[in-house]
Amino acid sequence: LQVFNSQVAVPQDLAGLKVLVTAGGTREAIDDVRFIGNRSSGKQGLAIAKAAKARGAEVTLIAANIDTSSTFDTKIVAVSNTEQLQAALKNEFASTDLLIMAAAVSDARPIATEGKVKKDQYKQLNLEETPDLLAEISKSRAKQFIVGFAAEEGANLLQEGNRKLAAKGLDLIYANNIEDGRIFGSDKTSGYLISKDSTIEIEKMNKETLASKLLDVVVERLNSHNV
Ligand code: CTP
Repeated sequence: LQVFNSQVAVPQDLAGLKVLVTAGGTREAIDDVRFIGNRSSGKQGLAIAKAAKARGAEVTLIAANIDTSSTFDTKIVAVSNTEQLQAALKNEFASTDLLIMAAAVSDARPIATEGKVKKDQYKQLNLEETPDLLAEISKSRAKQFIVGFAAEEGANLLQEGNRKLAAKGLDLIYANNIEDGRIFGSDKTSGYLISKDSTIEIEKMNKETLASKLLDVVVERLNSHNV
């Protein structure tokens, strides 16, 4: 017996919409050889890009240091550091209906040095803050629906999720639980999907299931805005 999953009907409720997804984690150069990175696997962002595509959206994926070979009929913009991600975002945002910012963006970057720092000068790093790309782009929005992410420890999930929703000018945020470092590289996720007037608890589920739940909430809110 063979089951053809691809023949299971998926609602085309994102047809006609342009969806921009960022996924992966940025790398900031320390020198020409080394970088500061993070543990983001890109799995959640990739799952969202694929789910949006399956629901009929035209998808652009800004991919920071991840393998995108499993995507299909998706525009890929490969970036490495925060500055490149910022530039790609600026390029794509105006023609986007829905931005989903799943990438783990560095909060700080080294003041980069050319060549290779020698061991005796490698005792400390000078860091500068990176701009908050979401907060910045949400100020320039026309009609775009904007979804952000927050990685938090359990006790802070709701409070920090709500704070970042407001501070970054978002329509929806997924505050995911990083307790015990279990989110990174994992296939499972848990946390809260928070908008201004609803909070949905997400109990441990596959990142694919979260992707489809998140898009359900987006579609519901887009439809209620349009009536
Ligand atoms: N983000 C961003 N630009 C940055 C840092 C983060 O756009 N320089 C985005 C991430 O893509 C994510 C959201 O902001 O969607 C939350 O990131 P997070 O690091 O949790 O938020 P911060 O405001 O940096 O707060 P914290 O002090 O908790 O790190």
